[in-house]
Amino acid sequence: MRYQIAPLFVRPWTINGMTPRLIESHYENNYGGAFARLNAIAEELAALDPEKTPAHVVARLKQEEMAALNSTLLHELYFASLGGDGRAVPEAMASALARDFGSVSRWRQEFVALANALANGCGWVLLTWLPRDGRLINQTVSDTSPGIAGGIPILALDMYEHAYQIDFGTNAAAYVATFMRNIEWNAVAGRYEDATAVKPPRPLVQKEFGDLPSVTIDEVKAMLQAGEPVQVIDTRPRHYTTRAQDIVEGAVWRDPERVDDWIGELSKETPVVTFCVYGFHIGCQTAATLRNAGFDARYMAGGHYAWKAAQGPVKPFDPAALS
Ligand SMILES: [Fe+2]
Repeated sequence: MRYQIAPLFVRPWTINGMTPRLIESHYENNYGGAFARLNAIAEELAALDPEKTPAHVVARLKQEEMAALNSTLLHELYFASLGGDGRAVPEAMASALARDFGSVSRWRQEFVALANALANGCGWVLLTWLPRDGRLINQTVSDTSPGIAGGIPILALDMYEHAYQIDFGTNAAAYVATFMRNIEWNAVAGRYEDATAVKPPRPLVQKEFGDLPSVTIDEVKAMLQAGEPVQVIDTRPRHYTTRAQDIVEGAVWRDPERVDDWIGELSKETPVVTFCVYGFHIGCQTAATLRNAGFDARYMAGGHYAWKAAQGPVKPFDPAALS
């Protein structure tokens, strides 16, 4: 594809403390340079045959494409982040910052700290909306540290030296303070509104037992830690468990094929949590069987492996439990 150049968004003469010369040079040489590289790389990629080109050549071009594409996208965002008075944060934006950072001033302190940390380096500082988590987050991005996957940047500060050297020399801190005084918050708030309209990725739901009540790893951990009465049953299949090294601490293993043999040990007064290896089937099936028998049973989503991946405590599995 052929990329299109974006006109300069900010009016250079409105920026308090930065000269039009700096902005013009930045737009023409650095944004323009990235834009020209991007189109040249896109042409090269379109022209090559990936099957006949050495893999390292394809990989290098794709790396350069990412760098040039990020540079054009973030420069466009940078020039669209300037032109305001830096102070008048619209109400919706201010409350979003307060929700996710504690307060606007705490957000500002973290953002400025990230920028000052790049004083002798290079990179971008971004305020980014993360649809999966429904929150704003500050991040540093460079050619070697990519942006958060799925994040939508709404404010960008360019910390490459070319962004300030003409006006500020090496005084990056003065440049950062000047940037903060010129943020165009209305534009940021507009991008925030658009970003929050983006749907989060669809949740990973196992449809098969969709109606069956489940508990999360964190909920089970909290119940065990608080000493709440709960009956935690490991129902990994016998053939699997003969190879098992460990078991969730606080759980007992019971054979899912022989529920009738052990169901009488359980109390109907106390909640039951069942789980299996990955949380797909057997733990759910056992929970369903117990619920039909009148128990307050739920299955632990993700099973044994999610428990371990979440650093839940385990203990060695005693093979005597199998007999
Ligand atoms: Fe730049």
